[in-house]
Amino acid sequence: MLLVIDSANVEEIKELIDYYPIDGVTTNPSIIVKEKLDFFPLLKEISEIIGNERELFVQTLTFKAEDIIKEAKYIRETVPGNVVVKIPVTNEGIKAIKTLKEIGIRTLGTTVYTPLQAYVAAKAGASYVAPYVNRIDNLTGNGVNVVKEITQLLEKHHYNCQVLAASFKNIQQVHNVCLDGAHGVTAAPDIIKGFLTHPATEANVQSFSDDWQKAYGEKSVVNTDKVKM
Ligand code: G3P
Repeated sequence: MLLVIDSANVEEIKELIDYYPIDGVTTNPSIIVKEKLDFFPLLKEISEIIGNERELFVQTLTFKAEDIIKEAKYIRETVPGNVVVKIPVTNEGIKAIKTLKEIGIRTLGTTVYTPLQAYVAAKAGASYVAPYVNRIDNLTGNGVNVVKEITQLLEKHHYNCQVLAASFKNIQQVHNVCLDGAHGVTAAPDIIKGFLTHPATEANVQSFSDDWQKAYGEKSVVNTDKVKM
């Protein structure tokens, strides 16, 4: 299962890459503008930080297929690394995804709200689809269930397209899509950090250390090597 950071914040990306088994970084226009930095230099910096092993997802902005294709080619030529182009699943977006598949540019169908949008994007040749879990919930839908249905549909019909669930506001949503078969999740840094947070874990770690120090007067097994009971 893929674990992807949904952010363009260089410091947060560096920190998460350092600590967690991260597979890539997703961005979108709103995420990029939050950073108030020049677009392509920022993408190049992110690409350098994450290296060629991880994927960097960059979104197009235009509405017509021919313009989307131009943007996709430009992004691929300008940003180094393992870049996947994110394209919204509109009619024009699907047309662009079909052409990009033919010329070997990998795409992710984004802004997905329904299983049929995901189906069309996968059939057009998208390597990924990104259902927007929390945004679906905010429209009184059931984001987790949409992810489950998309996963079932793509697997049942053997599409070579991964479900990268996106748009999370809480850990429970992530937990549920993981159990329901998503191939990956992309989440904001604070959500990812929350995966490991548990007061019981912290208390256990502290009490192991306390027990050890009481017995050996040391804080590390390395130093304990020199202590005789
Ligand atoms: O990757 C999609 C995502 O950025 C949308 O998330 O949190 O703005 O709903 P959000």
